[in-house]
Amino acid sequence: MRPLTVAVPKGRVLTQLTPLLEQAGIDTVPLFADDRRLIKETNLGLRFLLLKPDDVPTYVEYGAADLGVSGRDVLLERLYDLYQPLDLRIGRCRMVVAGRAATPTPAVPRVGTKYPRVATEHFASRGVHAEVIFLQSSVELAPLLGLCDVIVDIVETGGTLRDNGLVIHEEICPISSVVIANRAEFKLRRAEVEPILAALRRAVEVRASGT
Ligand code: PRP
Repeated sequence: MRPLTVAVPKGRVLTQLTPLLEQAGIDTVPLFADDRRLIKETNLGLRFLLLKPDDVPTYVEYGAADLGVSGRDVLLERLYDLYQPLDLRIGRCRMVVAGRAATPTPAVPRVGTKYPRVATEHFASRGVHAEVIFLQSSVELAPLLGLCDVIVDIVETGGTLRDNGLVIHEEICPISSVVIANRAEFKLRRAEVEPILAALRRAVEVRASGT
């Protein structure tokens, strides 16, 4: 049987995930080895895949990875069939509607966002039919140039909004990173998965209690 395979996002969240993995007894040194290998073998019979955040749920849903770590923003935007057994309480931020302070939002607002489904559903839940414009990055730029009236995006420190003269109009939901699991593999490999999850759960609790 192949080693238990865990898909994790490269970048900011990996930095926050590393101490939790270490606390759970997982050697993270191979994850940061100075090579171009995309599969990183480590202890406890585990191997890690380092992926772009948006790709992690896809690998897990199709069973190419058994477990993964994903932001709830990615999970909210696309409808994956995944089990979410543990909130890691890292990668914490908020999904918000933001825009210029003084500009009233028109009846049919134009909304710039990386999260078209979240944005459409949010405005629809308020009875507003928004015109949603998909943007890949630097979403804060769009209202400054009149491309849209407001944006729907994630805010962590608030620095990007502030530095671009934008303010939060409304909070949609809190976001954090969670463990995701392939439903079938979770059942088939439960004996291997449960101890890893239990160790991670303890690591999250230790971090939360500051001990
Ligand atoms: C994210 C998000 C905001 C920013 C918020 O973008 O889309 O632009 O971080 O963080 P802050 O509240 O701490 O300023 P990211 O840095 O991932 O880059 P991107 O614009 O290329 O998506």
